Amino acid sequence: MRLDKYLSDMGAGTRSELKKAIKAGLVTVDSKTITDPGIHVSPDSVVLFQGRPVAYETYVYYMLHKPAGVISASEDPRETTVVDLITEQKRKDLFPVGRLDRDTEGLLIITNDGEMSHRLLSPRHHVDKIYYARVTGEVTQDDIQAFESGIVLPDGLECLPAVLRVLGQSEYCDTEVTIREGKFHQIKRMFLALGHEVVYLKRLSMGPLTLDPDLAPGEYRRLTSEEVSLLKSV
Ligand code: URA
Repeated sequence: MRLDKYLSDMGAGTRSELKKAIKAGLVTVDSKTITDPGIHVSPDSVVLFQGRPVAYETYVYYMLHKPAGVISASEDPRETTVVDLITEQKRKDLFPVGRLDRDTEGLLIITNDGEMSHRLLSPRHHVDKIYYARVTGEVTQDDIQAFESGIVLPDGLECLPAVLRVLGQSEYCDTEVTIREGKFHQIKRMFLALGHEVVYLKRLSMGPLTLDPDLAPGEYRRLTSEEVSLLKSV
């Protein structure tokens, strides 16, 4: 790929800033100063920008504890997106793996690996997602049975069987729900079909990946190589 693209992919600046910097002799490739921004380099080239190494990472993977109030998109002219929260990266190819509603918190993977994202989201792969849901009213045995049988939403949409567990009952009912699909507002709509409103929703896990309890809402970290391998084996 072109040298200016390599550097801009790694968040070193805009293409036009980088063209100027390269022409000014601020970049070396494999120990040679290069002044042509169009020269071809590979991910294995040793690139220094103002004397600092810029290694090329093909894929990056983050675990974000999504806070409420941000949208699950890569960019938006008005709203803060989940990708805006990944402040260590300025690369432009990051996106969230699937979507959580604006008011939903919890585990969200941010990556630039389209193939992995596709596998994790594909209905064929049946990746379990576990949510903590606080709902109005009292969750009954009939509700648990209805989740198990597969809820049919008012618009006729048939949900796959899901597991509903009651964790505790007070003014609201605290539950844990396991689903294998990710339809729009799925958990809220499943509960609503049974007369319960979801007042708080948080995703706890996605396939083999569990939300790190050390991450506060809005915080993120890179996935470990073990976690990436686990996700690749889905
Ligand atoms: N189900 C929902 O209703 N909302 C989410 O954000 C995720 C699952």
